[in-house]
This record gives sequence, C-alpha cells and structure tokens, in this order.
Amino acid sequence: MIPKEVIEEVVARTDIVQLISGYVTLKRAGSNMVGLCPFHSERTPSFTVFTGSNSFYCFGCGAGGDAINFVRRTENLDYPDAVEFLAKRVGITVIDTDVHETRSRFDRKRMLEMNREAARFFHEELLKDNPEAATAREYLLGKRALSRATVNHFGLGYAPNSFDALTPHLRALGYTEDELVAGALSGRAKTGKLYDYFRGRVMFPIIDVSGNVIAFGGRVLDDSKPKYLNSSDTPVFKKTRNLFALNFARSECAERLILCEGYMDVIALHAAGFPQAVATLGTAITPDQARIMSRYSKRVVISYDMDEAGRKAADKAMRLLEEVGVEVTLLKISGAKDPDEFIRNSGADAFRRVLDASQSKFDYTLDRVLSKYDLIDPQEKIKALGELREAIAGFPSSSEREVYIGVVADKFSIPKKSLREDIDRSINRHRREYKKKENDTLRQSITGYQDRVNPEFSRTPGIARTEETVLGLLLCDPTYRAALHRDPPVLTEDDFLTAFSRRVFCAVRDKIGDDDWEISALNEDFTPEEIGRIYGMRNRRMQLTDNGDKVFSDCVAALREAVADQKIKSSDDPMAALQQILKNKRKEDKGEV
Ligand code: UTP
Ligand code: MN
Repeated sequence: MIPKEVIEEVVARTDIVQLISGYVTLKRAGSNMVGLCPFHSERTPSFTVFTGSNSFYCFGCGAGGDAINFVRRTENLDYPDAVEFLAKRVGITVIDTDVHETRSRFDRKRMLEMNREAARFFHEELLKDNPEAATAREYLLGKRALSRATVNHFGLGYAPNSFDALTPHLRALGYTEDELVAGALSGRAKTGKLYDYFRGRVMFPIIDVSGNVIAFGGRVLDDSKPKYLNSSDTPVFKKTRNLFALNFARSECAERLILCEGYMDVIALHAAGFPQAVATLGTAITPDQARIMSRYSKRVVISYDMDEAGRKAADKAMRLLEEVGVEVTLLKISGAKDPDEFIRNSGADAFRRVLDASQSKFDYTLDRVLSKYDLIDPQEKIKALGELREAIAGFPSSSEREVYIGVVADKFSIPKKSLREDIDRSINRHRREYKKKENDTLRQSITGYQDRVNPEFSRTPGIARTEETVLGLLLCDPTYRAALHRDPPVLTEDDFLTAFSRRVFCAVRDKIGDDDWEISALNEDFTPEEIGRIYGMRNRRMQLTDNGDKVFSDCVAALREAVADQKIKSSDDPMAALQQILKNKRKEDKGEV
C-alpha cells in the first residue's frame, strides 16, 4: 500500500486545473471550469473541473475523480504508476518499495529496458558482416532508397531468420521467460520452449513521446504474407493509444500533423523534410489516437493511400478528428499509390506543393461524389445530390454551408433555394437524432440500464438511488462519517442491498477520516469507472446543500426498511409473511402505493 501521506502530498501539490489543461481546453464557468470531455466524444462541454474540491466529473459519461484518477485514465496507468507520474510532476520522490509490489506483475521500467535491448540487438544485426544482414541492408538502402542517416534516426534493424536469436540474447541479459512473452518479443511453443516472434524481417521500433521503446513493427523483405507483423498489446504498449513517429513529430507540428497509413510513408516523409508525419500502428485510427493528435496540433492533413480502402479509412479519420475539434484537410496525390511512392517518383518539392494544395473536406467530398456517379443519368444525379446534401448539412457554419450550396447549385444547375430547403430538413433531422441519442444515454445513466458498475441497480432502482444519496452525503461531510463510528453505528454494511454500494460504504467508513481529500484513498480499491461513479454520487449531493440532516435520516430509515422487507421476502416464516401483507395494506390505506 502507498502511504497515505504520500498520496496526500501528491494530491495536495497537484494543481488539478493545470494538470487537466494539458489535455483539455478549459473555460471558466462560475467557480468551476468546463471543457470537452477527454473520455467520450461530445460537442458541448459536460466535463467539469471542480476547483474547490480538486476533482473532475463528466455529466455526459460519468467519468470522474481526482488528479490520480484522471492520470490513470488519460495515461492508461495503474494506480501506483499514476501516483508516481504525478509525484514526478510536482517533484516528490516516491521511494516506498511497496509501491512496486502492488503494481501489475511486470515492472514497467524493466520491460522498457528489455525493449531497448531488443532494438539495439536488431540494429546491430542489421549492421553485421554476413549475407543475411547484407540482404536486409540492400532492401532498406537500395530498394526502399533510405539513407544510412534515416536508418539510424529511426533505429531500424533486422530480426534474423531464426527461432532463437533474440530470445537467448535477452535471457542472457537476465530477462525472464515471462517478461519476454508478455513483451510480445517471444512466443511459447506447445513444448513450453520460447522462440523469437519476429524472424527474417526489417524492424521498426515504436517509440513513445518520452523516448521509450514500447513495441515493434517488422516487414518481410519480399512479397510473402503477412507483410507486416506488429507487437500485440503488452503491459507497456497499447496500439490504439500510440502513433508511430509522434516522438519526432511532436515538436514539429505546430502548424500541422500529417497522418499516414504506413511506417514506410512516415519514414519517407521525415527523410524528405516532413517530420510532422505520424501513422497509426496497423489498425484504423481510434478515438484515442484522434484525441492524442488534437493535443499536439489543431490541423491534420490526412495522407492515406489513394485506393478505395484508403478513402474509406480517410472518411473515418476525418470524422474522428473533427469530433475532437481538429481542422482536417486531405491530400490528393496522383500517379502514386501512397506518399512514400510519390516522393520516390516526384521528389520532396512536388510533395510540398501537393501538401499546400491539400483539399478541404468539401472539395474532397465533391471530388469523390463526382467521380463516383455519372451525372448524365438522372437517377445517379439524384444519388450524388443526396450525398452532397448530407455532407453540406454536416458543416456547423451557415455561411460555409451557403458557399457550398452555391457551388453545388451551379454544378448541378438547380435553384439554390430548393437545395437550401433540403439541407435545412437534413439538419433538423440530425438535430432530432442527436437529441434522442443524448436523451437515451441520460436515461440509461438514470435508470441504471446496462449498468456495468452496479449491475444490481436496475433490480431495485429506488433503493439503489437511496444508497447513492447516503453515500454521497458520507462523501461530502465528515460529520456523517463520524456517525458511522458511534456505538451503535448509525449505519452498517448490512443496511445496503446492492453489493457495489456495500463495498463503497465499507471503503468510505474504513478509509476516509475527517478530511474530504481522503476520498483519494479509494483509488486503490476501485477501477477508474467505479471511481467515476463514486464522484458522481458526491457531486450530485454537493449541488443540493439544503436539508442534509433530514435527507440523511430519511434515507437511513428507508434503507433499514428495505433490508427488512428483503429479509421477510426471502424467509419462509409465515408470521413474517403475514406482517409483510399487513404492512403493505397499511401503506395502501395511507395512499403510498
Ligand atoms: P501498407 O501495405 O499500405 O503499408 O499498409 P506500406 O507502409 O505502404 O508498406 P510498403 O512497405 O510500402 O509495402 C499500411 C500499414 O498497415 C499496417 C502497417 O502498419 C502498414 O505500415 N499493416 C499492413 C499491417 O499491420 N500488416 C500488414 O500485413 C499490412
Ligand atoms: Mn507503401
């Protein structure tokens, strides 16, 4: 366990507004700050930072917590690592050795060192004086036309075509079999023996923004399949949350980032003088990656392959990037299938011209639609118009829409007025759909439908809500917490029906003392989602400051009664059953039911 004093110190010294501002653009709203939630996609801010209590809560998705929980979620760290992350930021050294025992089975620092050793090994293999290495060098320097400087800059390497090259090397350096397998560098055969995962491939180390080697991609030298192998997720790598070459691009992308599909595209671009290029890691772009990119640059040029798959992927990237407020343009290259090939054929200057002429989303869509449909055919023309209408409806600015309406009306020789009316109808339909979706999510969060944190909520929603009210009061105010330690206590775990609330209750009673900041101690026993829920209980209660004492005693009474009811229901005692019937009757008489 991490000593309470360390957590206290770290949380107290962390300015949560400053911390979160590194990830989210915050605006002042009364005494709090609001912004677009980094944990779900939204257009109007429901993510709130409470400066008074040093906490955050999203009214849209229910994410919430303190600085530690924020870091756990954004940096994808476990609890002790998140504390250490913050500690580093505020200049505290966490020397407590227990910290290392409570973390995941694998030591992050060792795993990262192991990856660095692997990268060094692959690089040295590439430079060796043997025919196999010579073939690999010829591939990179000859066929792919990379310079030695580029090979060194990216730390490219070669994995020999052998089942036991890297594995024995890392074992000799003291890394365990479990570490090698968890790090996705070795596989384990049915016999239990380890073997090298990457064989006969040129190797691309994947490096995070702190300079750690976190994973690898490896390409065959010929046309065999699969063309690329990538590290699977490991304790230090999540492919949906990292971007290739962001370590270099991060300091070069004030003006724009260039998003490519492949490793080789990025490398060719950097070599040609475009160090703003990054790529996803063998998967389509994810919302996390879009959010990460938006932190580094407000403009992204999408430079995907010119085939249909590339266009589909570009549509998705465009949508995700726009959702996080990035201005997107699209690169149109001709005579080459991807940026790498284009640069090899036409050179860097030509690429710069293409880059400066990158198309806006509207021009891109217009191009696509015009090349897809034959406008002579009336049916096709109608389809084309339909797609353009939907596209124009998606632009939030009405003056921008007006410009595009002019372009399309001209192109299709139709009156602007009718086009405008159609588009307004689409906009209204989208608005209704959006509202409905928003309401549905809200309803779900209120009724506890699909409640993963507390699956029992929907079984007894009334009581579960009462439980959350009581817990909210306990979290807000030490006087209620003190009442739990009276003899007899005002409330015990037996007064809770749902297991989740019971767990929260015990943690609150046993871990939180007089100070409200101590709610941080709960981080240790709950997942980030659960912490979000707990902060939700507290925040809902904090907004209603009146009448706390009466609410508290009413809720306690209601919980007691509910538990008693439950006992009667589940007992076979005929007397108890009779009592239950009588009680219900009394309620009916009083008009409560
Ligand atoms: P491409 O096939 O377009 O890659 O796939 P590329 O970089 O242009 O390849 P070459 O070397 O010039 O032929 C784009 C990206 O998709 C992933 C890789 O990340 C690749 O860079 N990919 C592709 C895989 O993960 N596995 C594959 O088998 C193929
Ligand atoms: Mn290529």
